[in-house]
Amino acid sequence: MFEHLDAVVPDPILGLMAAFRADPDPRKVDLGIGVYRDEQGHTPVLEAVRAAESALLASQTTKSYVGPAGNPGFNQSMEQLVLGAAHPALTDRRVRSVQTPGGCGALRLGAELIRAASPDAVVHVSTPTWANHTPLLAGSGLRLERYPYFDPATGGVQFAAMMTALERLSPGAVVLLHASCHNPTGADLSQGEWRDLLTLVKRRGLTPFIDMAYQGLGEGMDEDAFGLRLFCAELPEVLCAVSCSKNFGLYRERTGSLHLISSSSAAADAAFSQLVRIARGIWSMPPDHGAAIVQAILAEEKLRRQWASEVEAMRRRIEELRLEVVQRLRRHCPQHDFGFIARQRGMFSFFGIDTAQVHALRERHHVYMTDDSRMNIAGLRHENLEYFARAVAEVLAVRITEDHSGTMTR
Ligand SMILES: Cc1ncc(COP(=O)(O)O)c(C=O)c1O
Repeated sequence: MFEHLDAVVPDPILGLMAAFRADPDPRKVDLGIGVYRDEQGHTPVLEAVRAAESALLASQTTKSYVGPAGNPGFNQSMEQLVLGAAHPALTDRRVRSVQTPGGCGALRLGAELIRAASPDAVVHVSTPTWANHTPLLAGSGLRLERYPYFDPATGGVQFAAMMTALERLSPGAVVLLHASCHNPTGADLSQGEWRDLLTLVKRRGLTPFIDMAYQGLGEGMDEDAFGLRLFCAELPEVLCAVSCSKNFGLYRERTGSLHLISSSSAAADAAFSQLVRIARGIWSMPPDHGAAIVQAILAEEKLRRQWASEVEAMRRRIEELRLEVVQRLRRHCPQHDFGFIARQRGMFSFFGIDTAQVHALRERHHVYMTDDSRMNIAGLRHENLEYFARAVAEVLAVRITEDHSGTMTR
């Protein structure tokens, strides 16, 4: 049965991780994989997580199943974190939530619900978008199309072109939006742009599917949820896929949630029963551990404050690195404008160099970023900013061509 299957080309980011690990040079810089790193280059277990986890291990009395919708306490805490405590959709009982294995599980579950409700619906994603959106959403059988988003000339959003493209969509079309910290570009919508987009979405009868994987890492916990909260308050139907991987540092614990906002409480109940049925048919029940930790943190004032300050420290570190790297680049590459890096938010920026230059950075200077020049800002350290900026200056100063074997010549 399986012998005729062709091998899949490995995900380039995995190859990049392996190449980085194998590189013995002590100066090497990993800007590839999308995980937060501290000044020592570690992706730490947060102190609030460690404390909640120890208490949990000591007090847990069973490992029995949690049920297909997951831990109700976690779901409720996530609703409040994501929407804000007094959100009108919560007061109107229009929200239903399911605990999922990470944000990926939420994206897939949401796509399956859309497919069940409207098999011919098309999901429109930004150009570019996070690479895994394609398999997660299209894997459910939905068709994907793209709308203009990132403007390489400014490092910001091509908002007029985006609006023109969305204006042409038919009612019922799904628009996938990044709540904040757009992956891979770091270019976010302003509050005014969210408001204008809301007017369009209402007028055209579109269904937003909002992916929030970085709440708290852009401008702040509430600021990063601005567009999501606005849309959930003003629209009859919204899907929100939320990840706890980055802001709780729970990557491998696979912790996330899907929040469905419906037009009425009765409609929400029916759609929720469908979500439970679909979840039962994919993973049956979500993993408990990460969600139990999140619930414990959000439920206890002291832990919650500790967690919020740890997220704020991560956010500030990224913000500082953005400002400092722009200063260093300005000094070493005065003929290039990298100011957009300081205006972008979250962990990623498109550096805007070509593939040959990306390869030159990797091979000559041990600086690793993906071929499309997406860089994880959190992979920088204050101590290697100077090294990084000099490496970039060196690479930009020479014209690099690649022969067909991928070997570089100047
Ligand atoms: C834009 C975006 N959405 C969703 C996710 C989902 O992450 P996870 O499934 O690890 O929670 C990520 C993770 O990198 C992401 O960048």
